[in-house]
Amino acid sequence: MLVRLLYASRSAVPINPVLTDAILREARYNNPKLGITGLLCFAGDVFVQVIEGGRDAVSELFAAIVRDPRHSHVRLLGFEEVRERRFMSWMMGEVDLANANATLLMRYSERASLNPFETSGHTTMSMMEELVAMGAVVSRSA
Ligand SMILES: Cc1cc2nc3c(=O)[nH]c(=O)nc-3n(C[C@H](O)[C@H](O)[C@H](O)COP(=O)(O)O)c2cc1C
Repeated sequence: MLVRLLYASRSAVPINPVLTDAILREARYNNPKLGITGLLCFAGDVFVQVIEGGRDAVSELFAAIVRDPRHSHVRLLGFEEVRERRFMSWMMGEVDLANANATLLMRYSERASLNPFETSGHTTMSMMEELVAMGAVVSRSA
């Protein structure tokens, strides 16, 4: 059974390429073995991640992610059983929202900045899907 989970969190340090490279390297090493796909977005000190896969795999990965000291204030924005994946092309895709179109952020937020803590989970998920549709997702090889 497939599920999709969405959460937001605050990085312990301002997000920088060394940090995101380390996280994504780990994700791209582990996720294929776990059957996990998804998307990690970041801007400033905010992470938003969607992970999808089997219910056990997603639940266990989320538990590990919550314990990770590299971030805090982990907030679950959505969890649902799904019939199909939406992010199947990425063992963990990435979008640095600093490079994203401000118009996109404006469309889904009160300001042209990422604030998933004050936005509904459905809205944040719509933004993630639009990033995919726009071709904004980067997928470096592991
Ligand atoms: C924002 C963020 C996203 C992460 N995403 C993943 C991921 O998609 N897959 C993964 O295996 N680890 C991910 N990690 C790393 C996990 O938190 C954890 O370090 C890793 O799963 C190993 O866990 P373990 O030491 O309990 O085995 C992420 C960490 C952070 C801070």
